[in-house]
Amino acid sequence: MQIRKLTVADAAAFRELRIEMCGRHPEAFGQTPEEVAEMAEDKFVEWMTPSDIFPERFVLAALDADRVVGSVAFRREDTNKERHRGWIWSVYTRPEARGRGVSRQLMTQLIDEARKMEGMEILTLVVALPQTAARTLYTSLGFFTTGLIMHEYKLPNGRYVDHEEMMLWL
Ligand SMILES: CC(C)(COP(=O)(O)OP(=O)(O)OC[C@H]1O[C@@H](n2cnc3c(N)ncnc32)[C@H](O)[C@@H]1OP(=O)(O)O)[C@@H](O)C(=O)NCCC(=O)NCCS
Repeated sequence: MQIRKLTVADAAAFRELRIEMCGRHPEAFGQTPEEVAEMAEDKFVEWMTPSDIFPERFVLAALDADRVVGSVAFRREDTNKERHRGWIWSVYTRPEARGRGVSRQLMTQLIDEARKMEGMEILTLVVALPQTAARTLYTSLGFFTTGLIMHEYKLPNGRYVDHEEMMLWL
């Protein structure tokens, strides 16, 4: 298992993974698979790689024989008043790779990296209440619940999904 940051060359592989996670877990991720599929290439690349505005932005991935099997994404907030906070999203391990420590390794590496960023103090994320495995993972890493977001998502079938907001002091 190799862990590395994705680059522009991995955009198609990450898009495929993102489509899969949004399709399999509509309650956990904010986009529909169709929305991910329709994103313009430059927008998608901009979203997963550093830019002038977001220099500390990356997608960390686990690869098994060159196939991306898991991801965690990170973005540091860009305004002066928010630069002490980082945002985690797209935490996903493909079903066939689950239970082997993939997301624990990815999250641990992301946290270690965030700790080295000057002025970085807090990591935040939101997680759907039904996602027990993810909530257990985050709690085991030291994240704690700071709030409940009722009706965070309205699914295409009209069902609402509540999320909790979690944070970690670095
Ligand atoms: C949550 C998820 C990323 C875990 O990925 P994974 O690579 O299988 O996780 P790991 O093997 O690294 O396990 C890490 C920890 O997660 C928790 N965990 C993993 N699977 C679990 C399960 N089925 N039930 C309860 N806790 C579980 C445990 O705390 C585990 O640590 P431990 O093995 O020391 O007990 C994966 O199940 C997934 O992609 N779920 C669907 C998407 C999702 O909910 N993403 C979160 C969006 S906020």
